[in-house]
This record gives sequence, C-alpha cells and structure tokens, in this order.
Amino acid sequence: MNSSTSFHVPEGLDVLKLPKHVAIIMDGNGRWAEKRLMNRIRGHEAGAETVRAIVRTCREIGIPILTLYAFSTENWQRSKIEVATLMMLLKKFIDSEENEMIENNIRLNAIGQLEKLPEDVRISLKRTMDLTGKNKGMLLNLALSYGGRAEIANMVKIIAEKARDGKIDPVLITENFISDHLYTAGMPDPDLLIRTSGEIRISNFLLWQIAYTEIFITDTLWPDFGKDEFIKILVDFQRRERRFGNVGR
Ligand code: FPP
Repeated sequence: MNSSTSFHVPEGLDVLKLPKHVAIIMDGNGRWAEKRLMNRIRGHEAGAETVRAIVRTCREIGIPILTLYAFSTENWQRSKIEVATLMMLLKKFIDSEENEMIENNIRLNAIGQLEKLPEDVRISLKRTMDLTGKNKGMLLNLALSYGGRAEIANMVKIIAEKARDGKIDPVLITENFISDHLYTAGMPDPDLLIRTSGEIRISNFLLWQIAYTEIFITDTLWPDFGKDEFIKILVDFQRRERRFGNVGR
C-alpha cells in the first residue's frame, strides 16, 4: 500500500469515472475452507488476506470510500469459536494495518453496534480511528455488528427523541435528514455493491443507502477474489448506464 509505489492504470479503466463509494459483501470464506477440507476458520484467515489486497487496490486506484461487511448482527449466532476467531482476525487486521493506514493517508471508520464488540477490539478500533481520523486519501469503513434494520431503527429512535424534546419540527424529516442520522452520515451512498460467492441477496446490508446502487454478484468465493477481478467489475460498472429512475439518454 506504499504510496511511493508507481501504479499503472489498468487497461479499460477510466480513472475519471471511478465509483466514489464501493461496498462489498464478503461471502464464501466457509465454503472456500470446506472445499479444501479445512476448518472454516482457515477460510476467514484467507479472507482477511483478501481484505488487505482489496484495500490496497482501492487506495492505489483512487476509490475514495470502501465499505466492507465484516460482521453482521446475525453473525453473533455462529459458534463461540467462530465468533472469537473473527474478532481476533479483526483486531489483528486493525493492529497490523495501522501503520500502513497512517502512511497511506487512509482513515479507518466503523459502522454498526460497536458497543457489542469485545473490549480489546473496541480499544484497537478507537486507537486506529483516532490516529487516522484526519486522513483524507481514502475512507475504509468496516461494518461491524452491523444490520441495516438495526441502523434504521436506531435512526428512527434518535429522530423521535429529537421530536419529543421539541428540537425538531417533523416537516424537517426529509430523505437527506434521514441519511444524516444513519451510521453513514456524511458519506455518499455506494455507487457499486459487490457480493462474492454467488448468493443473490442483500443480507441486511445498507438497506437505505443502496436504493440506486449498481449491484454486481460474482461466483468467486471471497478468499479467491482479487485485484484483477475487482478491476474487471469496475470496468463493467463504468459501462452501465445509471438512470436513477429517469429515462435513458
Ligand atoms: C462470510 O463468509 C464472511 C464473514 C462472515 C466475515 C468476513 C470476514 C473476513 C473477510 C475476515 C476478517 C475481516 C477483516 C476485516 C480482517 P461465510 O463464513 O459466511 O462463508 P460461507 O457462506 O461460505 O459459509
């Protein structure tokens, strides 16, 4: 991720038409491991390596925001050992990437019910978020203990409290006002959502924010996903005509 490394613009990619915000549902770690007769945990370890590679690629190409679905509110139901491993990998990722994020001007942010995370993860997260808080090169947004419905319920609660306390008039409740009360306040909605491992569903991810997002589903399992396929998806995205409910040109 060293910023001094020269970067060649990949064939077919228009750097002036890059998505401003890419969101990824990283799926298939377990199947990747099972196919190799390995424990699911090996799949998550391999998946963490893919996270490193894709963050680097986004920084190199110049994608301003990357949001990764790293742990959902539903993932707490997995076995104790799997949850503990995912938390350990998360902490390891934050700690080991901290310096690279600082050197490469990347800001780390997290969205979700962060209070539910183990204390050691919260401490690492807060430290790296504080240390990288002023970085402007790229925003890496980790969705942790994240659920789209929980996010919407949280937004409704905050707005209802403000209305109850007489701080806002309900006429103020516009779509922008709602966006400003979500975890992603201040960020543009994702232009592109990628899901690996072939499942055609949203799985409670960024429900409000993906209203007009282009969706790309690949059969590749997350640990096998890499820079070349990511760039092919970006090229495909650039060929799509985004109409936002309007008619074509
Ligand atoms: C889905 O695979 C993936 C997850 C539940 C979590 C994603 C976690 C990582 C990529 C590793 C750690 C994260 C970071 C940010 C370093 P799955 O277990 O649902 O796969 P399956 O559907 O094949 O069982």
